[in-house]
Amino acid sequence: MSEQIGLFYGSSTCYTEMAAEKIRDTLGAERVRMFNIADDEVLQDIEHFSFLIFGIPTWDYGELQEDWEACWDELDQIDFNGKKVAFFGLGDQIGYPQWFLDAMGYLHDKVINLGATPVAYWPNEGYEYDESKALTQDGTHFVGLALDEENEFDKSEARITQWCAQVLDAFGLPAHDG
Ligand SMILES: Cc1cc2nc3c(=O)[nH]c(=O)nc-3n(C[C@H](O)[C@H](O)[C@H](O)COP(=O)(O)O)c2cc1C
Repeated sequence: MSEQIGLFYGSSTCYTEMAAEKIRDTLGAERVRMFNIADDEVLQDIEHFSFLIFGIPTWDYGELQEDWEACWDELDQIDFNGKKVAFFGLGDQIGYPQWFLDAMGYLHDKVINLGATPVAYWPNEGYEYDESKALTQDGTHFVGLALDEENEFDKSEARITQWCAQVLDAFGLPAHDG
């Protein structure tokens, strides 16, 4: 497999899928392989990658997106030791301010407990919400890129560009020049 980065995402209404495509193109499409977590037997592909990106939106007042939820227990079978994982989450900070991006926090915590090294945390400055389970312990960062297509779609492109540079740096891969 020539792609170096495995990007796994779940998406109920396509926003996370569209963000995943932008992230792939920003990192360089030739080195990213995308997987929709809803597809059959997709978890088996995780083991092929040392560099992973996981994308998850939050649904229904702080719940996991349904396709991630469907494979939640199966994730426990995967050995994440030696793997670097970057996370991105989608949420709505105005509509669901008490549960902003909670699912990204749950996924991060689970994968870390399975041995992964997290990379590319993202400053929470400038976001307006009340509570989030996706914060670092010191409360200064989200555990991954925070995207809000409902309220701040105009900021997503710049956020993705900046975060992808962080991700490549953390993976020790050269910048994408195209
Ligand atoms: C019924 C409903 C419940 C939602 N619950 C939350 C929530 O608890 N926390 C949050 O941050 N966003 C919440 N959202 C916002 C979604 O995460 C957001 O729309 C996201 O872009 C959906 O991504 P997807 O299209 O990839 O599924 C909710 C949206 C809907 C429609």
